[in-house]
Amino acid sequence: MSNLLAINGSPRGRESNTERLLQPFLAGAREAGATTETIYVTDLKINDCRGCFTCWTSTPGRCVFRDDMLEVLAKIKAADILVLGTPLYHYGMTARLKRLLERTLPLADPHIIKNGDHYTHPGREGDFNSGMVLIANCGFPDRRHFSALEEHMRQLTKDRPERLLASILCAGGEILRHGGPAFDWYLAALHRAGKEIVEQGHLSTETAATLAQELVPVEMYLQMANAYWDSQIKEGNPLGAAETTAEEKNDAPGAIPVAPLADENVTTKNKQPPTATNPTRPGGEPDAGVLPRTCREAVLGMPAAFNPAAAGNLKAVLQISLSGEGGGDYHLVIAGGSCKAFEGRSVEATTTINAPADVWLRIARGELDGAAALMQGLYRVTGDFGLMMRMNELFSGPATGAAAPAPARPAGPLPLPGMAWLSVAFLPWTLNWLGTGLHLNPFSSWVAPALLALAIWLYRRLYNRPTWMDSVTAVYFLVTGLLILAGQNLPGTAADFSGNLFLGATWLATLATEEPLTAAYSRWNYPAGLATNPLFLRTNAIITAVWGEAFLFMALMALGMALIPEQKNLWLVLRYLPLVLAGVFTAWFPNWYPARVAAGGRKAA
Ligand SMILES: Cc1cc2nc3c(=O)[nH]c(=O)nc-3n(C[C@H](O)[C@H](O)[C@H](O)COP(=O)(O)O)c2cc1C
Repeated sequence: MSNLLAINGSPRGRESNTERLLQPFLAGAREAGATTETIYVTDLKINDCRGCFTCWTSTPGRCVFRDDMLEVLAKIKAADILVLGTPLYHYGMTARLKRLLERTLPLADPHIIKNGDHYTHPGREGDFNSGMVLIANCGFPDRRHFSALEEHMRQLTKDRPERLLASILCAGGEILRHGGPAFDWYLAALHRAGKEIVEQGHLSTETAATLAQELVPVEMYLQMANAYWDSQIKEGNPLGAAETTAEEKNDAPGAIPVAPLADENVTTKNKQPPTATNPTRPGGEPDAGVLPRTCREAVLGMPAAFNPAAAGNLKAVLQISLSGEGGGDYHLVIAGGSCKAFEGRSVEATTTINAPADVWLRIARGELDGAAALMQGLYRVTGDFGLMMRMNELFSGPATGAAAPAPARPAGPLPLPGMAWLSVAFLPWTLNWLGTGLHLNPFSSWVAPALLALAIWLYRRLYNRPTWMDSVTAVYFLVTGLLILAGQNLPGTAADFSGNLFLGATWLATLATEEPLTAAYSRWNYPAGLATNPLFLRTNAIITAVWGEAFLFMALMALGMALIPEQKNLWLVLRYLPLVLAGVFTAWFPNWYPARVAAGGRKAA
């Protein structure tokens, strides 16, 4: 079993991008059966090597300092694979990591030997056998910046070049702090890398190629990085805001600076993870300490989470006007599969969001649910509301690599879209209405609908999940079908009354559940996250209520017809009127209502 020792050389310690890269790698290694340990230069007190060579002369193999390096040396000796994690500092590893490596001098023998075409010090206890992996990231989006560091690693392992198992170089890694789940694909590749290193001692071509990819296109990176720096210059830098320790202020000779854990006193933990209803952050657990601190950062950072595959050939201009302190005007231009953020207003805006700056920032930070805030009238949306409905998929992360998801449909061999299943659910009823209306035989009117209802329910149970409509229909027709088979007679008006009563009660009863009946069907028309969107659910609750009442009204009309049959024509007109009205309402309402709520015309509860 391999034993991996990772050294995180970033002064940002556990809050570093280095850590974001190291941990998935180590998790992959563990999955392959390795044991792993991470040590942080920020936790260690390690003096500078003072070049006395005591470890080579008076006390061979032992340094004059009795500091944390003693333990580190023991761990390095025990490791099968040493993973060096470092940000790029002035084209090389950090001074702290370098200081630690310099203090490995006791492991080397002072004699100089020729090894092939170069000269070297042999290991004190034989050859250095441990494999090495370099995991580095840097602030520029250009891999060439790593060339000196790569050369450094080559020199460190030149006695046995095969010791350098992999160099994972993440250019523009600074963006990892801002991307959240947008970079899951890269972290997944790191996980694979850890596994491959343990299992086969090198990276597969595919994993190496993925890890060499840009995290985001360079142009976008520059735009985001510069916007970030502008906002930090104005607002103050969160990392710099960490307290400087007394030791760091003390520049007395010999003092060992210990970095504060960056972000420790500025990190805002999310009360509530951003969800699919949060329009400005992709879903998933937020990365504490990387949440936007200003509206400007939040809006100008949105292109980093843009998903071109989800956008397809969408053309839209989203204007975001934020009022109050920290506010400003921005717009996002979405076209040709890309999204660019600009400051200022656009005359071409297709959708406009007007929000108080503090509300928008809380939404962006995942502290407030975007859809719920909209329902409460905390901000307004005018123009094309369809764009708002797509916000979560549009900003779900750039590198999913997937094409725009095909509209989902319930599982199963019948390729019917979600909404079509509502018509299917009505098929037994239609058979029954036709059969009783045309006075067909009881088998056609009752037994056939019962068999059909049962088949629909079983199919839905097998491949998906029956809705309340499916279940109640099956129960109703099984009971009535059995009654008919038992020789009972159900006159048309009684059937009409009981059927509509059953339907109306079922539809209205679903209002007490988490999913009003029509939502169980119409959710298939939208991205998955929308199924829990309060505005979507409320719209569907109203439609479900209208249909539920229409069915109850029809039951009353059936009763009227039974009690006063001489007014048959009147009952017939009144019977079908609510159906027509409910149909017209359903065609109009889902377009009108969400847009009206979004425009601030109505504050939903
Ligand atoms: C002192 C210093 C020197 C840096 N030098 C470079 C550099 O030479 N090239 C580069 O691309 N980024 C450079 N950076 C940026 C860091 O590599 C970058 O911020 C990195 O993402 C930090 O990673 P970490 O969070 O793991 O510490 C430097 C940063 C600092 C603070």
